[in-house]
Amino acid sequence: MRITNMHKMRVWDLPTRLFHWTLFALIPLLFMTAYAGRMDTHAAIGQAVLVLVMFRLAWGFCGSQTARFIDFVKGPSAIRSYLATGQSETLGHNPLGAAMVLALLATILVQALSGLFSSDGIGFDGPFAHLTSSVASDAVTRLHVALAYLLAGLVVIHVVAVLLHWKLHGENLIVPMFSGKKWVQAGASEPRFTHTVAAFAIFVTTAVLLFIARKTL
Ligand code: HEM
Ligand code: HEM
Repeated sequence: MRITNMHKMRVWDLPTRLFHWTLFALIPLLFMTAYAGRMDTHAAIGQAVLVLVMFRLAWGFCGSQTARFIDFVKGPSAIRSYLATGQSETLGHNPLGAAMVLALLATILVQALSGLFSSDGIGFDGPFAHLTSSVASDAVTRLHVALAYLLAGLVVIHVVAVLLHWKLHGENLIVPMFSGKKWVQAGASEPRFTHTVAAFAIFVTTAVLLFIARKTL
């Protein structure tokens, strides 16, 4: 049962939720296709993930309040204070969760970018592999392979952290990532939302930019 000074409020916008659950579906597919040697499919999904992450980075600057980096990225002192009190001033990611969000986004970005320059050495080259020397492409491929393990590790920590948060703080963060709505203190002011059409426009622009880069480089 909920205590009465809490009420449900929309906190996550649709684009952020769609971004998350699409990522959740595509990242395991990337591992499966790579290990099954389905490199064409792997590269296609990898580029879709690149577009998704580039969209999310742009959304972090011009999207809804809780999606903006300035809203949730706080310094080490905010993380220490959150760890000490368990209280967060933000409606969206808490300061500790924010550090994990940044680590995940940065790793996925570098992973997807490095894939563009990678080669499996037996006939599949990423679309930009021809722009580098074979020594450089080999180095980037090694980075791509190594980062895949880091990413898998981060995802495991991320999921365990979400489940631990539920157990220790009694707050289920998973349902809000589906519904968009969270229990918040009564009196908390509603976050500002950016229209979903803007997200769609950013997403399409990013996809077109990648397409043009592929055609021209
Ligand atoms: C491949 C798997 C996954 C990846 C790459 C991933 C990545 C991310 C990222 C980047 C965010 C930040 C969302 C944003 O602000 O845009 C996030 C948030 C979140 N993820 Fe995941 N995620 C994965 C799987 C999962 C799973 C399986 C769960 C459920 C147990 C989950 C639950 C959540 C929740 C609840 C949040 C919001 C946390 C908060 O309220 O601060 N994620 N995830
Ligand atoms: C976030 C996106 C991506 C993830 C998570 C991912 C993940 C992986 C994984 C797990 C492997 C196998 C590593 C191993 O052999 O142990 C792999 C290999 C590879 N990936 Fe990706 N990948 C991504 C994006 C891309 C993209 C966009 C491309 C190209 C367009 C690409 C091209 C390749 C190539 C060429 C290999 C073979 C490397 C080798 O055989 O040594 N990847 N990737």
